[in-house]
Amino acid sequence: MKLADCHNIDDFRTLAKRRLPWPVFDYIDGAADDEITKARNTSAFDEVDLVPDVLAGVGSIDTSCTIMGRTSALPLMLSPTALQRAFHRDGERAVAQAAEKFGVWFGISSLATHSIEEIAALTGGPKLFQLYVHKDEGLNASLIQRCREAKFDALALTVDTIVSGKRERCLRSGFTTPPRFTARALWSYATRPRWTLDYVFGPKFRLPNLDRHVQEGTGKAVSIQDYFNTMLDTKMDWGTAERIRQDWGGTFALKGVMSAADARRAVEIGADAIWISNHGGRQLDGSRAPFDQLREIFDAVGGEIEIILDGGVRRGTHALKSLAGGATAASGGRLYLYALAAAGQAGVERAIGILKEEIERGMRLMGVTSVAQLTPERLRWR
Ligand code: FNR
Ligand code: LAC
Repeated sequence: MKLADCHNIDDFRTLAKRRLPWPVFDYIDGAADDEITKARNTSAFDEVDLVPDVLAGVGSIDTSCTIMGRTSALPLMLSPTALQRAFHRDGERAVAQAAEKFGVWFGISSLATHSIEEIAALTGGPKLFQLYVHKDEGLNASLIQRCREAKFDALALTVDTIVSGKRERCLRSGFTTPPRFTARALWSYATRPRWTLDYVFGPKFRLPNLDRHVQEGTGKAVSIQDYFNTMLDTKMDWGTAERIRQDWGGTFALKGVMSAADARRAVEIGADAIWISNHGGRQLDGSRAPFDQLREIFDAVGGEIEIILDGGVRRGTHALKSLAGGATAASGGRLYLYALAAAGQAGVERAIGILKEEIERGMRLMGVTSVAQLTPERLRWR
């Protein structure tokens, strides 16, 4: 199987599985507990059907929209995800450049493997920084200041990761940051020489936004579960979120809002956007899927705050259903991560290109010429 054989996101997953050692693949692909929420995030889209209009004159269509004050060529964003250097030698650089090429937003994680400054210098495209609030307040302040100086377009505060979800695949594999070769997985590293040689001889794995403050994750190998459970501030509350918004002073989003009441509080503290998200099913298994919650949240705060639907998106029609349900845009992690792991920047470009074509084709078949025409009347719940 080659990159040219990938025609949908699941194909990239198959290719990534062949190219990555299993502990790394399972870190991306895995989720919490029984992974029920992860599966539901995608299957929730099957509960509704799109109702097309015909003879609508769709010779030219416009897929663009405005998200958090910047034009996006597609109603699609690349969610911030950690440790990308472990998936491909070019890491966040590959994702940033692919996003810029397609004119879409991307985000870097607090646990990114390239620095805020390097990513800012690389692309003028719309980009956000995802903040994890650490116990080390000096670190939090430094991250916010660095993003401000580097002129990031938005800050997204992740609110669903107060402690780590129970990721059983990682418990079994012993996956750490930085990745370490373990006896259990030795055969897998040996049979994936491309990845293994790149990891050993390629650019050094670092978490450059954190490593001036904390050793864990760069100098000292830890599991993601231990990292979260020892480094993050479990006291974080609405007061913290409000203070961070004020300190930052720019476009501000809460990532991981799942209830209508919390969406309302997000409006009250002056957030510009919420991401309806359960972290791709990696945190609270058994929590509802973002798409299942969209209607309720849209009824509560629609028009007052931008709503980004994050999780389970694997098809262009999933983005169309999200928009028809009231979201400003759809976003996802694995939709580009499998492709990054499979083939770096070329992979990410192919994945975005496939979703772009699916969105365009879907709009034409729906009989709409702009994303604003995707309204709730175009959906039927079964
Ligand atoms: C994530 N996600 C995530 N979110 C976040 O706020 N900070 C982070 O560092 C990460 N890291 C991360 C790593 C990996 C490997 C994955 C798969 C996910 C969650 C991410 O931003 C997004 O919410 C989910 O990926 C959405 O689900 P889908 O699109 O993967 O189904
Ligand atoms: C994860 C992180 C790092 O989901 O947010 O693994």
